[in-house]
Amino acid sequence: MSKRVLTTESGAPVADNQNSACAGAGGPLLLQDQHLLEKLARFNRERIPERVVHARGSGAYGHFEVTDDVTGYTHAAFLGEIGRRTEVFVRFSTVADSLGGADAVRDPRGFAVKFYTEEGNYDLVGNNTPVFFIKDPVKFPDFIHSQKRDPFTGRQEPDNVWDFWSHSPEATHQVTWLMGDRGIPASYRHMNGYGSHTYQWTNADGEAFFVKYHFRTNQGVRCLSSEQAAELAGRDTGSHQTDLLQAIERGVHPSWTLYVQLMPAAEAADYRFDPFDVTKVWPHRDHPLTRVGRLVLDRNPDNVFADVEQAAFSPNNFVPGIGPSPDKMLQGRLFAYADAHRYRLGINHTQLAVNAPKAVPGGARNYGRDGLMASNAQGRHAKNYEPNSYDGPVETGRPLSAPLPVSGHTGTHEAPQHTKDDDFFQAGELYRLMSREERSRLVANIAGGLARVTRDDVIERNLAHFHAADPEYGRRVEDAVRALRED
Ligand code: HEM
Repeated sequence: MSKRVLTTESGAPVADNQNSACAGAGGPLLLQDQHLLEKLARFNRERIPERVVHARGSGAYGHFEVTDDVTGYTHAAFLGEIGRRTEVFVRFSTVADSLGGADAVRDPRGFAVKFYTEEGNYDLVGNNTPVFFIKDPVKFPDFIHSQKRDPFTGRQEPDNVWDFWSHSPEATHQVTWLMGDRGIPASYRHMNGYGSHTYQWTNADGEAFFVKYHFRTNQGVRCLSSEQAAELAGRDTGSHQTDLLQAIERGVHPSWTLYVQLMPAAEAADYRFDPFDVTKVWPHRDHPLTRVGRLVLDRNPDNVFADVEQAAFSPNNFVPGIGPSPDKMLQGRLFAYADAHRYRLGINHTQLAVNAPKAVPGGARNYGRDGLMASNAQGRHAKNYEPNSYDGPVETGRPLSAPLPVSGHTGTHEAPQHTKDDDFFQAGELYRLMSREERSRLVANIAGGLARVTRDDVIERNLAHFHAADPEYGRRVEDAVRALRED
């Protein structure tokens, strides 16, 4: 069989890929060697900025299949009749470290799902934790700065990590979660995913519901201890990537069952917790899980850069029947992601294969044009303004989701207090749910980090949070920290 010919970027055959063109056998190289110049120049441009958070990740394609009827709650077409399948791309990630970090670390994991629905792409950009550290987006850059590398030392600093948390009592719930047994998943296949925020569903009659998403792993939850993780991270920095890639290549297709918690919109105001506070869960006894469908991953991307690195998920990519809630963090995210993509990938990132909507083959139909790397010309007769007299695409007049009632004055406000709202109650509930052994491991993990902090006032403020969550919790962390510091 004759071999395929190597070509330059412009498609011309390459004569020699082992020796550069030179002026005589021992002479200097020639500027006319297009293949050499192009090869070196392309190599210099292989990297793009990494994601400012969630830089390190793995992705796979698959499908979502509806197994239960939820049409009473949403008219989203892809959640329509039982058996309906929708293609998906999922990217899992760690959060704090850079692209060159390790997978087996104590850190939340990203769980971002892109549903290529017939009504446009729907992105559900969640984590493996049902809650988050903060509840107002204005704190996000500070929070992330405190968790990533210090600008002077270039290292993650326990002083910074715990200093921020000591000023953020609302983080106590998520810190308890992160330092507990589920803080280091054994692999991406062995963890649950959560939408974390509250979203809004609207049914065909215009009735609104608030909804929380839960993807439960069908592989079973498996986690690593801090010691196991340290050993694994040293042996294979890409342990999660290895696991996901190899499982799918072997034909072992990971799956998750999607459940939702639902709340009729009218009940939100009187719920005992602020239902739009992402530092809190809705206990299942208040709002039980309703099964929706099954997510299956069965195909690895052919090129990690093309599909995983260039994947762009935006919490503001909704489809009819699904919309945002007034969750302030979510509202901040509705801006942040598409803005990050415009910086990281460019204005035409939605035209890349992994991000392109399948609902409109050939690309989005609108009046946006041009910019760097534009390929969606929309046809020679398509006008680039609207309204027009040339039969161009028109608006539907149908909002994607139900309107939200609002009241009050503009200004910077704290979120309204509900009867059970404080920063510690749910953290204490989580602690009290744990077995004796789990509590001991949690205390040891927290103390291991907190004892490395150099400032007493930072330690004291953090201890006060654990005391407020549960007196036993506070006492045990305090004793463990003191014991370690006396060593
Ligand atoms: C106001 C709060 C937040 C802001 C401003 C924010 C901002 C960002 C930004 C800028 C990125 C990088 C996007 C890119 O370059 O592709 C990102 C990634 C990500 N964030 Fe957030 N984030 C916030 C909170 C959250 C929360 C609460 C969750 C989970 C519930 C979350 C989950 C993710 C995930 C999963 C990714 C990675 C997406 C991917 O795989 O490409 N973020 N975030």
